[in-house]
Amino acid sequence: MSVALIILAAGKGTRMNSDLPKVLHPIAGAPMLHHAMQTGSALDPARTIVVAGHGADQVQAAAWNYDTQAEVVIQAEQLGTGHAVDQARDALAGFDGDVVVLFGDTPFLQPETLERMLAARKDHDVVVLGFDVAELQPRYGRLVMEGDRLLRIVEYKDATENERQIRFTNSGLLACDAATLFDLIAGLSNDNASGEYYLTQVAELANARGLSVTAVKCNEAETLGVDSRTDLAAADALFQTRARAALLADGVTLAAPDTVYLSFDTVVGRDALIEPNVVFGPDVTVESGATIRAFSHLEGCHVARGSIVGPYARLRPGAELAEDVRVGNFVEIKNATLAEGAKVNHLSYIGDASIGAASNIGAGTITCNYDGVMKHRTEVGARAFIGSNTMLVAPVSVGDEAMTGSGSVITSDVEDGALAIARAPQVEKPGMARKLFEMLKAKKARQQRGS
Ligand code: UD1
Ligand code: MG
Repeated sequence: MSVALIILAAGKGTRMNSDLPKVLHPIAGAPMLHHAMQTGSALDPARTIVVAGHGADQVQAAAWNYDTQAEVVIQAEQLGTGHAVDQARDALAGFDGDVVVLFGDTPFLQPETLERMLAARKDHDVVVLGFDVAELQPRYGRLVMEGDRLLRIVEYKDATENERQIRFTNSGLLACDAATLFDLIAGLSNDNASGEYYLTQVAELANARGLSVTAVKCNEAETLGVDSRTDLAAADALFQTRARAALLADGVTLAAPDTVYLSFDTVVGRDALIEPNVVFGPDVTVESGATIRAFSHLEGCHVARGSIVGPYARLRPGAELAEDVRVGNFVEIKNATLAEGAKVNHLSYIGDASIGAASNIGAGTITCNYDGVMKHRTEVGARAFIGSNTMLVAPVSVGDEAMTGSGSVITSDVEDGALAIARAPQVEKPGMARKLFEMLKAKKARQQRGS
């Protein structure tokens, strides 16, 4: 049975108080929409339809960024969750399979839960996902059950006092075969407290047709919805807690787990050591046995075995560290490869560069990669020694086993084995320092007498 996902993502998210559409707010570095699409991908969907409305262009770009095959339909006016699903009607015309409706703002749903919903579809026409709430909350719809039969879903605003006491709550997710679902949706009314076309009314309409409707239960934490910045922060915190626990279980040492910030896609190998206060942006891989020392910030980079990074290092996108590399304090690396055993230990910027194996880059060295308009590359060969405070004015190359004198401004290529010095020669004036001191002290004394 093939599956189509419909991901509802048209809402404005008023309570986010933001220009950014709600589903594009990030959790662990990825928009909530990506989290939803990722969970849905576990069902290996034949089609993925994202219903966009507010900020549709941005939502579309984000959907395609995750999956170029995703289809985006527009809900110009947000007339309710049922109306939102209806926008996928034309796109799915003739689709012979199941539809699973997901919300773009529920990032914690587990793939197994979706699989359980589909399993329940074998015996029931409509399957809704519900959860028991620890505390009754006005924001959720209530599931009115009779045994394992779901009679109807009632929104809080429309519920009687008795119904409001029901703890079994609607997550918003639903599975049903496409033809039946669109048939049922055609019968929705907006005659309710919100004046919206509720997707939830499908349950009641299906029962009226004698179809079998049930609800599958999941954990409350899975359905955590994000409506405000407070929810977003809580969702991120929950993500972090889980991701840290997963790394620890995978054999990574986190010296102070609560202080390490991970991304949705952070990969760290076994026996790597992550010191306190390290931030991982998206797309970072740290291999087994590497060490990331305290207060380092990494994104879009790869750190191979045995390398040591930080403390206080910054690896930006395109930083590729081969085995046993050293990147020390206050060093920034961007779009640069450091071959095996290379060292950049102190106070440097290495951008748009390649550094050969076992080369040493002296303290304060800068690749001057930007001329104000364009970026240029710096190539340093193997076993080279770049003296402290060298300015490498790109495009420029320094050969294998070459050296630069410290303080040099290197503007032309240095051949293999050569020493390049590019700084003013030293001038020495014997006795001049003492003479200067005496002059200055005398001047100060005159000024103090005068005042
Ligand atoms: C919905 C359910 C409620 C459930 C709750 C769980 C309905 C009528 N109610 O309520 O039973 O307990 O979720 O969180 O379904 N959206 C659109 N277009 C619209 C309206 C909504 O795309 O016209 C999207 C929103 O962007 C959001 C999702 O659908 O991603 C849910 O909408 P929301 O307004 O949050 O529904 P709730 O009132 O929370
Ligand atoms: Mg909601």
